[in-house]
Formats: sequence, C-alpha cells, structure tokens
Amino acid sequence: MIEPINPEQNPLDDLHQWEEDLLARYPHPENKKGKEFRNYNAEVRPCVKNFYQLNHENQTFEFVQKKRQEFLKFNQRKMGIWEAAEFLNNLVDDSDPDIDLPQIDHLFQTSEAIRKDGHPDWFVLTGFIHDLGKILCLFGEPQWAVVGDTFPVGCAFSDKIVFPEFFANNPDSKNPEYSTELGIYQKGCGLDQVFMSWGHDEYLYHVVKDFLPEEALYIIRYHSFYPGHREGEYDFLMNDHDREMFRWVRKFNPYDLYTKCTNQINRDEIRPYYDDLIRKYFPSELNW
Ligand SMILES: [Fe+2]
Ligand SMILES: [Fe+2]
Repeated sequence: MIEPINPEQNPLDDLHQWEEDLLARYPHPENKKGKEFRNYNAEVRPCVKNFYQLNHENQTFEFVQKKRQEFLKFNQRKMGIWEAAEFLNNLVDDSDPDIDLPQIDHLFQTSEAIRKDGHPDWFVLTGFIHDLGKILCLFGEPQWAVVGDTFPVGCAFSDKIVFPEFFANNPDSKNPEYSTELGIYQKGCGLDQVFMSWGHDEYLYHVVKDFLPEEALYIIRYHSFYPGHREGEYDFLMNDHDREMFRWVRKFNPYDLYTKCTNQINRDEIRPYYDDLIRKYFPSELNW
C-alpha cells in the first residue's frame, strides 16, 4: 500500500528536473553504452519520484475535464508569442545555475538545432514554442498538472508508463468504466477522440491550433506522450493518420531531449529571424 501525497505539493526544484529524468530514462544513443544495466528506478531522485506519484494519483478523467473547462475558455490573458516566452522565463530555476538555463534558452536550443538541420520553417517555429504551455505554472497550477509524461485517461493506464504502481491510488483505476483496455473509447478511434492527461502539451495545442500545420500541432500536443511515441503503447487508440503524423513527433523528440547542453545562443543575433517567423504564422496577440 502506497500512502497518497498531498496534491498541493510541488516536489521538483524546477520543471527541468522532469526533463533531466527523461534523459536518464532515454539517454542519447551515444551515451548509452555500458549503462544498459543501470537500474533506472533505483537511481531516480526522491523528489522526482514524488512528482510522478502526485501526477499518477491525481490525473483522473474528471480532473482533465475540469481543467479543460477552466483553461479552454482562454480568459487568462492576451499575449503575443514573444510576450509568452518572456513570461515563461519568469519561471526561474532555483537549482544549480551552471546547469539549468532559463526556459527560453531551452526553446532556442531546440529551434536552432532544428533550423541547422535544414527543416521547414514551421518545424523551427514549433521547436521555439513547444513548451510555452508551461506558463500554466505561472497561473498557479501545480507541477504535476503542467509537466510529466502524458497518457490517455478514460481507459486503463499502461504499465509501460513510468512508475505504474502509483496509479493504484488513482480513483480511475477502480472505476469499471475507465479501467478496461479500451475504457470509454472505440478501437482505432483516433487520438483526437481521446482525452490526454492535462498539461502544457494539451493546453498549448488549443492555444495555437488555428495557426500551424497539422504536423506541428501533433508535435505540440503529443511531445510528452512518451508511452506512445517512445514505448509504442496505446496503438489501439490510434488510426493510420495518427501513425503517419507520429513520424513528426518522433523526429522532434531528439531535438527536445538532446540539445540542452549546447553553448549559449546569442539571442540578439537571431531575434530578427524569429520575429519574421512568428509574424508569418501568428497574429500579434493570442488568447491564453
Ligand atoms: Fe515539453
Ligand atoms: Fe521541451
């Protein structure tokens, strides 16, 4: 029996701790050698483990509906893309300043790596904005409702989700409607019919969905769906179009995970390129 944790806690020092943990779970292929036999579960920091526990205990179907009602009214504020990026930077990391760069640097490192590889401009832009949904934290949301691997709710939780044992305290695990493999869904219904656990991915998808190509929207909406794009779970909820689009989600993932240690980027130098790119796709203000 695992004792539930108070859901108001924010166990992570900063949001990057979850991403650092992803790197431990999914190391870069070149860094993997000799580490195959490491026991990932034994090495996870206690605060990160607590974070997963909170996430798994509280992401219920009902919670997701509540958050959708609250945030998909988009009545928090009006902001342009730059303003949102600067606002996100208020989430200052208070752990090791040498390792943890401000949020905006992660966005630039991701997008600049995509640009260097000669990908289409919408892909670069997607890299730049993909984590802007983390501003949910600045609207007072707890860490477990902003970051963390995402997964479908309304059907059984996959045992390939990190620390699946923590779902024992999620009330949906005991709900007969939600705890069969398909739950409330039809086989092959397509991910658009599926409710995902609530967080920065789903929120940003809804904020930007009228302005970007579909491939970009898939990346934004499912980039934290590690059980799907890395573990191959929940294929029975996907249709062929999802599978096709997930090629882009998978293409994006290494840029998100493995570009974090590169040199500091000269923001002033690249700013004009991004100004034009943002103007090409977005209005001057969006509803958040
Ligand atoms: Fe993210
Ligand atoms: Fe990211």
